[in-house]
Amino acid sequence: MPESNSSDPNEVARPSSSRRDPEWLRARLAEWLPTVAPSPTITRLEIPSANGMSSETIVMDAEWEGTTHPLVVRVAPTADSDPVFPTYDLDRQFRIIDHVARSTGVALPRLYWSEPDDGPLGAPFFVMGRVDGDVPPDVMPYTFGSWVSEATEEQRTRLVESTVQTIAAIHGAPVPKELLDLPGPGETPLRAHVRRLREFYTWASAGRRGSPLIERGFDWVADNFPEEGDPVLTWGDARVGNVIYTDFRPAAVLDWEMAAYGPRELDVAWLIFLHRFFQDLAELMEMPGLPDMLRREDVVALYARASGHELTDLDFYLTYASLIHAVVMYRIQSRAIHFGQAEEPEDTDDMIMHRSTVEAMMAGTYWERVR
Ligand SMILES: Nc1ncnc2c1ncn2[C@@H]1O[C@H](COP(=O)(O)OP(=O)(O)OP(=O)(O)O)[C@@H](O)[C@H]1O
Ligand SMILES: [Mg+2]
Repeated sequence: MPESNSSDPNEVARPSSSRRDPEWLRARLAEWLPTVAPSPTITRLEIPSANGMSSETIVMDAEWEGTTHPLVVRVAPTADSDPVFPTYDLDRQFRIIDHVARSTGVALPRLYWSEPDDGPLGAPFFVMGRVDGDVPPDVMPYTFGSWVSEATEEQRTRLVESTVQTIAAIHGAPVPKELLDLPGPGETPLRAHVRRLREFYTWASAGRRGSPLIERGFDWVADNFPEEGDPVLTWGDARVGNVIYTDFRPAAVLDWEMAAYGPRELDVAWLIFLHRFFQDLAELMEMPGLPDMLRREDVVALYARASGHELTDLDFYLTYASLIHAVVMYRIQSRAIHFGQAEEPEDTDDMIMHRSTVEAMMAGTYWERVR
């Protein structure tokens, strides 16, 4: 159980019991670092509070051979923290980043080392270079009161265009099949993707009441299954909140946890959907937000220009994105309930903040409301 009921939304999102102690980390990293760098000294170590809720991100400066290296250490959660996802493969993420860095012009953090062993920090981790710049915030959403909403139209256009070009460039990478979950015999990549989401939901809802909306969502997906284009390496968590920007262009693409083998539409729809999610939050709070940013038609046209590929069945992929997000949110809320930081609502579909969006997308009424 948590020590306190903080009103900081990051505290609510990330139960304190999932955190490691900075002093302990510093001592353990000081022991490990000499195995990879000559006579290093750690000169700074911090766990930022505005952090993600899956893996732990540690900011570290270390000095060796007369140079200070600004680093970020990404550590898998330990099992006793009741992590959001059932498995984490940090070494796989490290190798996917390395693959994309070697085979495309996509901006990525410099990679230092991957430590797949649990020994040094109690869980696998990797070390990358720290990249300067700004990330569009999730809390409070970047759609209001942020550097994104306060930028000029021209700057936001640059951000959107360069982000879509980056996604197209990722899709141009040769597929690193050895690093991805491949479909089973007779299964298409998209069907394998849906199957894994369902396995995740089954795991997340075991011993719980489940969500009738999510279950209807899986039925909707089965009933509306599209023809698939050629599969590519997808980034998986393709959203502006996973990019470090400098001068409104990607300086580093982060968060490769959800990277997968599948149709291009998965990433493009996720990009559009996540913006709509944050835009809907702005509108819910009676703010104008950024209704003209990352508009569906614009993104599809930009992607076609950048990649030479016309996307198809976007209605399906956008609804599927809303379902993926619903399952992740269901899991995060279940976890908050488990840690005593949220009450289970009578209607479990209320655990899904964007339930009305999922419902409207399945009913085919969402986009007319937006347009
Ligand atoms: N290489 C890096 N250089 C600078 N900052 C970084 C780097 N990697 C991560 N960060 C910081 O840590 C934050 C979280 O990183 P990331 O998105 O990879 O983690 P996450 O746990 O998956 O987060 P979320 O669940 O919010 O998506 C980033 O928004 C960024 O501020
Ligand atoms: Mg992230």
